[in-house]
Amino acid sequence: MKGIAVLGSTGSIGRNTLEVVRKNPDKFRVVSLSAGGNVGLLRQQIKEFNPEFVSVLGEPELKELKKDSALSCEAGFGEEGAVRAACHAGVHTAVSAITGAAGLLPTMAAIKAGKDIALANKETLVMAGPLIMEEAIKIGVRILPVDSEHSAVFQSLSGHRKDDVRRIILTASGGPFLNTPAERLETVTPEQALRHPRWSMGRKITIDSATLVNKGLEVIEARWLFDLPALKISVCIHPQSIVHSMVEYIDGSIIAQIGATDMKGPIAYALTYPERIADSAPLLGLAGLKLEFMEPDLKRFPCLGLAYKALETGGTAPAVLNAADEAAVSMFLKGRIPFTAIYKVISEVLERHTPGKVTALEDVLEADRWARDAAEASMRCFS
Ligand SMILES: NC(=O)c1ccc[n+]([C@@H]2O[C@H](COP(=O)([O-])OP(=O)(O)OC[C@H]3O[C@@H](n4cnc5c(N)ncnc54)[C@H](OP(=O)(O)O)[C@@H]3O)[C@@H](O)[C@H]2O)c1
Repeated sequence: MKGIAVLGSTGSIGRNTLEVVRKNPDKFRVVSLSAGGNVGLLRQQIKEFNPEFVSVLGEPELKELKKDSALSCEAGFGEEGAVRAACHAGVHTAVSAITGAAGLLPTMAAIKAGKDIALANKETLVMAGPLIMEEAIKIGVRILPVDSEHSAVFQSLSGHRKDDVRRIILTASGGPFLNTPAERLETVTPEQALRHPRWSMGRKITIDSATLVNKGLEVIEARWLFDLPALKISVCIHPQSIVHSMVEYIDGSIIAQIGATDMKGPIAYALTYPERIADSAPLLGLAGLKLEFMEPDLKRFPCLGLAYKALETGGTAPAVLNAADEAAVSMFLKGRIPFTAIYKVISEVLERHTPGKVTALEDVLEADRWARDAAEASMRCFS
C-alpha cells in the first residue's frame, strides 16, 4: 500500500486525489494532509481518511481545528506544518497541490526527504525549475506530472528517443474569452472569468486560464520537466480539451494523448505509474467527436508571450512573472483592477526587474517578495 501526503487536500486537485484514494482503498493510505483555511472540509477528510498528521494555514485555523476534542492526529500550521506533512514518515509520494508560490518549499522539502512527487503545483518548477530538477536527480526521486498537459506529453514521450522530438505541443482550451473581442476584455468581470468552459478548477488557475498565463506557466514547467528548450515547446488552442497535449517527432508523426476532461485520470497515473488503475476517469465516447486546433492570439492574450520572454531571460525572471501574476489575479478577483490590467502589471514588473542568477531557493524567494511589492506599487494607480 502506498503512503501519500496530499498537500492542498481541500482544493480541486486535493479533493480529486482523495476521490482516487476513496475508490482504491487497497492501493493507497493517506498519511498526511495539508490544507489552508477550509477547516470544516479538512475535519471531514480527517474523519474519513484517518491521517497521522495534518496542517492548516495559520494559528487561528489550528485553534479552530483543535476545538474538536476528538481530533485523532497530530496537527501543525503554516509553512512548517506543510513541510512536516510533506516529509512525514511513511509518505512515499507527496501530491503537491497547494496553489501558488506557497507550494514551493514543501515540495522541495519532500524531495530532500526522498519522497516521490506527484506535481500539480506548476509554480514550483516555474520559480525554481533548475534547482528542483537537480535535487530530484541527486536524491533519486521521481517527479510525475499531474497537470493534464504534462501527463499527456509524458505519456506521448514514453518509449521514444528524446533526440527524435521535433517539438511538444501543449493544448489550451482558450478559456471563457476565446471568442471575446479585444475591446470587451477590458470590462469582463471576475464572475465571467471564473466560468471556465471545460474544467472545474481553483479560482487562481481559472483566471490564469482566461488570460493564458496558465499556458505560459505550463511552457516553463515543461521546459524543466522534460529538459527541452523553449523553441521546442509550442502551444495550440484546442477548445474541446480532449487532446490533452502532443509530441511531434522528426519523421512527422504526432503522438497525442486523449481522454475525458477529468483530473482523476492524470492524478491516478502519477500515483501508480507505470501501472494504470482501471476506470480512474470516465470513458471518452469517440463517435461524433469534433477536434479543432488553432494558433493562440497573442494580441488578445499577450500574457503567453510574456511567459516565453521570462523563460528566455531566465534566472529570477520566471519567479517574478509568477509573483506579479499572483498579486494581480488576487486584485482582479477582488474587483480592484480590470482583467486587462493583469497583463499590464506583469509586464511592468518584469520590465523593472533586473534578473539575477538562481543558485539557491533564497534567490527565488527574494525575487518573489520583490515582485509582489513591485506589483502592489504598479496597481496603486487603479485605487
Ligand atoms: N485544478 C486543476 O484542475 C489543476 C490542473 C493542473 C494543475 N493545477 C495546479 O494545482 C495547484 C492547485 O490548484 P487547485 O485548482 O487545486 O487550487 P485550489 O482549488 O485553489 O486549492 C488550493 C489548495 O491549496 C491550499 N492553500 C492555498 N494557499 C495555501 C497556503 N498559503 N498554505 C497552505 N495551503 C494553501 C488551499 O487550502 P484551503 O482551500 O483550505 O484554503 C487548497 O487546499 C495549482 O498550482 C494549479 O496550478 C490544478
